[in-house]
Amino acid sequence: MKKNIIAANFKMNKTNKDIEGYFDIFARNINELKNKSSFAGTEIVFAPPFTSLCEAYRIIKPFESFIKLSSQNIYYEQSGAYTGEISLDMIKNCGCVYAIVGHSERRNIFGESDELVANKVSAVYNNGGIIPILCVGENLEIRNKNGQEKFVENQLNIALNSIKGKNITSLIIAYEPIWAIGTGIPIKPDDGEAMHRFIYDYIKSNFLIDELRIIYGGSVTESNISALMIEPHIDGVLVGGASLDPAAFFNIVKLSIV
Ligand code: PGA
Repeated sequence: MKKNIIAANFKMNKTNKDIEGYFDIFARNINELKNKSSFAGTEIVFAPPFTSLCEAYRIIKPFESFIKLSSQNIYYEQSGAYTGEISLDMIKNCGCVYAIVGHSERRNIFGESDELVANKVSAVYNNGGIIPILCVGENLEIRNKNGQEKFVENQLNIALNSIKGKNITSLIIAYEPIWAIGTGIPIKPDDGEAMHRFIYDYIKSNFLIDELRIIYGGSVTESNISALMIEPHIDGVLVGGASLDPAAFFNIVKLSIV
């Protein structure tokens, strides 16, 4: 069964100690939800900073059937003289099953090119055992000119170049319009649905992916999650700011079950 994904991207927030406190609250709440049949179609994903992956894994292990771990980034080489970088084997060793690739903050603040993102996607599939959460999305200037479809199609085309013609078990695309990230201005649900449907059709007609999930990111909160999740092509969300508070994120998980 294709599960919806409700993912928390902590970005550069929270120490190991903070994570412990966070899960004390979150775990208490999730116990109330986990036996509900409506919850069976949901997977919760946490992407803490690298420094907390192993600690987070230790804490979520009892909930492993429905809480999974993701890294916020990876490097495409397996090992070597790459100061400051983290390999796929390193994140797998800390219990990750997902890796966020090409987040717009990586692209815009740290200068990650489409080609670097493509190398990362290629490495993820060659290494095996990790499913990429590939982030794409246009800025406001492009949206104002109605160029979002062309722009995202180009991002997808370059990032997924290495898997053209290959049969892939699972891929997650996070559609995150840059103008919606951290701004408090989320996409309107029907505009989100239109873009997700566009991405879905594009991937389905150009790639061989068994399980494709397209999640939305950008100012998701307790007040807009339900309206987003009603849309048929929105298979979940990637939550930044509102995931930092365990009670708020728990409510997002709860309200996502529509
Ligand atoms: P936001 O971030 O929820 O704070 O807008 C989303 C993201 O960057 O993944």
